[in-house]
Amino acid sequence: MKATSLIHCLIAGAFAGLFLTSHAAGESLREHLSLDANWKFHLGDDWPDAQHLENAGTGSGPASEKFGDSFWRVVDLPHDWAVELPFDSAADGSHGFKALGQKFPANSIGWYRRTFELSKEDEGKRIWLTFDGVFRDATVWVNGWCMSHHEGGYYPFREDITDVLHFGGKNTIAVRVDATKVEGWFYEGAGIYRHVWLDKTSPLAVAPDGIFVCPHFPNNVPSDKADIALETTVQNSQEVRADATVSQEIIGPDGGSIARASQQIGIQGHLSNEVKTNLIVSNPVLWSPESPRLYQLITTIAVGGNVVDQKATSFGIRTVGFDQNKGFLLNGKHYELYGTCNHQDHAGVGAAIPDALQEFRVKKLKEFGCNAIRTSHNPPTPELLDACDRLGMLVMDESRLMGSDSENMRKWDGQIRRDRNHPCVAIWNIANEQFMVQDTPQAANVARTMQDYVKQLDPTRPVTYAAPEDDVFQGINSVIEVRGWNYHYGPLMDKYHAAHPEQANVGTEQASVVGTRGIYVNDRPHGYVAAYDVVWPGWNTTAESWWSFFAERPWLSGAFVWTGFDYRGEPTPYWWPCVNSHFGILDTCGFPKDVYYYYKSWWTTDTELHLLPHWNWPGKEGQKILVEAFSNCKQVELFLNGTSLGKQTMKPNSKLSWQVKYAPGTLSAKGFDTAGKVIAETKVETTGSATQIQLIPDRETINADGEDVAVFTVAALDAKGRVEPVAENKINFSIEGAGKIIGVGNGDPSCHEPDTFVPTVPARGIEVNEWRWRLAKIPKNSSALPEYEEGFDDSAWADLNAKTSNGEKTIKTENTTAIYRAHFALTEEDLKSAGVQVRFSGCDDEGWYFVNSQFVGESHDWQAQPVFDIKKTVHAGDNIIVVGVNNGPSDGGLNPNVSVKVIGHASVPPWSRSLFNGLAQIIVQSTGDAGEFKLTATADGLTSASAVVHAQRCTPRPAVP
Ligand code: GAL
Repeated sequence: MKATSLIHCLIAGAFAGLFLTSHAAGESLREHLSLDANWKFHLGDDWPDAQHLENAGTGSGPASEKFGDSFWRVVDLPHDWAVELPFDSAADGSHGFKALGQKFPANSIGWYRRTFELSKEDEGKRIWLTFDGVFRDATVWVNGWCMSHHEGGYYPFREDITDVLHFGGKNTIAVRVDATKVEGWFYEGAGIYRHVWLDKTSPLAVAPDGIFVCPHFPNNVPSDKADIALETTVQNSQEVRADATVSQEIIGPDGGSIARASQQIGIQGHLSNEVKTNLIVSNPVLWSPESPRLYQLITTIAVGGNVVDQKATSFGIRTVGFDQNKGFLLNGKHYELYGTCNHQDHAGVGAAIPDALQEFRVKKLKEFGCNAIRTSHNPPTPELLDACDRLGMLVMDESRLMGSDSENMRKWDGQIRRDRNHPCVAIWNIANEQFMVQDTPQAANVARTMQDYVKQLDPTRPVTYAAPEDDVFQGINSVIEVRGWNYHYGPLMDKYHAAHPEQANVGTEQASVVGTRGIYVNDRPHGYVAAYDVVWPGWNTTAESWWSFFAERPWLSGAFVWTGFDYRGEPTPYWWPCVNSHFGILDTCGFPKDVYYYYKSWWTTDTELHLLPHWNWPGKEGQKILVEAFSNCKQVELFLNGTSLGKQTMKPNSKLSWQVKYAPGTLSAKGFDTAGKVIAETKVETTGSATQIQLIPDRETINADGEDVAVFTVAALDAKGRVEPVAENKINFSIEGAGKIIGVGNGDPSCHEPDTFVPTVPARGIEVNEWRWRLAKIPKNSSALPEYEEGFDDSAWADLNAKTSNGEKTIKTENTTAIYRAHFALTEEDLKSAGVQVRFSGCDDEGWYFVNSQFVGESHDWQAQPVFDIKKTVHAGDNIIVVGVNNGPSDGGLNPNVSVKVIGHASVPPWSRSLFNGLAQIIVQSTGDAGEFKLTATADGLTSASAVVHAQRCTPRPAVP
């Protein structure tokens, strides 16, 4: 059961008679509605003047309610248009060489539009619009009213849009996103890459992020009674004071009611007020990564016995802390952090990660023992935290930028309030590597301000800073609660610890080992690095070195490896043609590199025995090849074609190696325990060339909710069914049924093939710049005049040319009317197109528009930039546009910059991807229909493969239709 449905069940359970009174007829409880589906999207800033600062409610072009977006592409959120762009060696390499940014203005601004109906019955409710994250610089209009301008690409923003809505009518949201500037030094995506929500609440309701659940125990050590401190902020959007009952009920992990309390609260009109309550949970079930059990808090607001609001909040009961000697403490005991840093970026989809893929990624990390994620270097997507709560993964929750200015503190406040109920969040991180300022007294002040603020909002969680320094106790390090260590290990750490025994420590960033999955020889031209855990860029060390050091020092708390997954950008140590980083333990798809088995050996209790490299080295017969074993067995014996090459003893936290003269066949190994018993065996075989494709979904059943995804592994197998480890066949994909492909990848850091195949729409623009015009009396309606007719003789009228008129207004006197006429030509071919549009860049003040004598529309706003679909009225040869204009006060007239756009039929290129070292990944999303989908993979010379996944009927999350 998905968490959302669980919450619904719980709310229903609470209604079923636990302690609530029913709500009055006509009043409905809050609705938390997804606004992800069916947006219209246009890439390019064709309307740079859409925002008007002179008057309210006058957004023009796409910002206007009247704008015609019929030929824009339909997209569902989350959406990242950067991943759709081509690679370009002239682009920013740290961001993955995507053709985005200052050098690519045509690709760097995008527009989104979405319309929705609101019923009359919603009148009286408060309606909130929330964007979880837009990269970046978003301007949002609702019904032409500019509602917000939000720059930060990683922070949510929310507006109460009630005042400007049409109840009982259509409403329009328009968003202009400008991704020209960057915030980080890694791939960041572009667009509305997180969810959008429409919340409807009663005017008396729990305030946004208005609930704080803070379980705690005496001395921060769990005992048989957890004290759950609750803070609830209730917002009153009515004019008059309200008196309400705030009821809280805790539902246990098994669904039973555990504790409840009620309190009275009075809230003045247009204000909010807070109530504090404490509830006791006896014999609490503790949350941990190994046992992620969750409680629910149901908060109910009632007035005069009628429920007006109800909200479910998931939480966990556990303690976290850092001790200067014992390191990180979870539930009062030392708990080693086996952490990884991760950016929000996955093969195929970029930053727009569906919730199910967040879950897939967390599970992949857990497979090798990772129990903590650092959300480097930004606040996470809320659904990542949900997945970490549910699956059991600790989180270091990081801010984007350090600063104690009001804007930064507002963001810090929002981040903490949003994330502090998640049991997975174990520590806050104020910033990463502030090289320029970190040792200054000013930076110490800022750090103290941010840290103190955490203590006000969230007294139980510690705070750190990711410091790229060794034995330095100045600036931030001198005030921060938990000393973070980026890229340092060795005696200076011991020295620091001895000198500052009062300060706890954590490895915020370690390793930065580079390695390409399935590559064992450095290859500069292709941008590949050998995956033996031997190459690093100079600022840290191998997995074996850093981990051996940390493993012996519990006071260091463990650390976060740079990184769990490869990501786009930072193509270290090479640059172009490499476009991805190689730091990951997993590649961009989540396919393990060899180092995965090193960490699995020492971070889990599973018996592990892994050999590398692969054993397909034609032409290297007789040459020595480095063979390594990543294992936690006490001894490992290696064999080539059955002949022992020696048994070696494994030191803890290390690996073993042999130089082996290559001969094709079977390289195998046996792992022994201390008693000399064989506890593991493995082998690597020389394979034949690939003959067949294999297609395996991660799940055989997904939800038919339009959001869930199945992640397929595509492999090339030889005749004996073994993956050919060097196969690079190009695979073509097709799909039938209830699934749609949303992305493909292969983990190749230098692959320039598309990750996503979007519809292409050919378009031809025709400038209509040469007009004739004259002052004329026109009726203020659409009725015909001879001047509107196609055949009217306008040869005696004045010329008006957009190129020479320099924007000068043609009508000089107020309350004057005029008519404008211009011609454009179309071909027979143009008439076969999907559509023809005419786009005006302004008509001051009102206009009535005709094409070939037929009325096509009108505008009543001097700032509007109307667009009309005119396919039905055009013909091959000469066509004529006529505009009757009424000018109000001051000067005015038609802006003669007009264009006609002939829009072709959209076509989607077929999906394909080459294998990289035998593997590729394809991500398929539910269309929303229940039933099966069948994915088929074909390739020249290989037997094709098909796989069927069932999309099961489910209750989709509530959404705006
Ligand atoms: C660190 C930095 C990371 C990443 C890494 C690459 O210094 O914090 O964001 O750039 O280096 O090794």
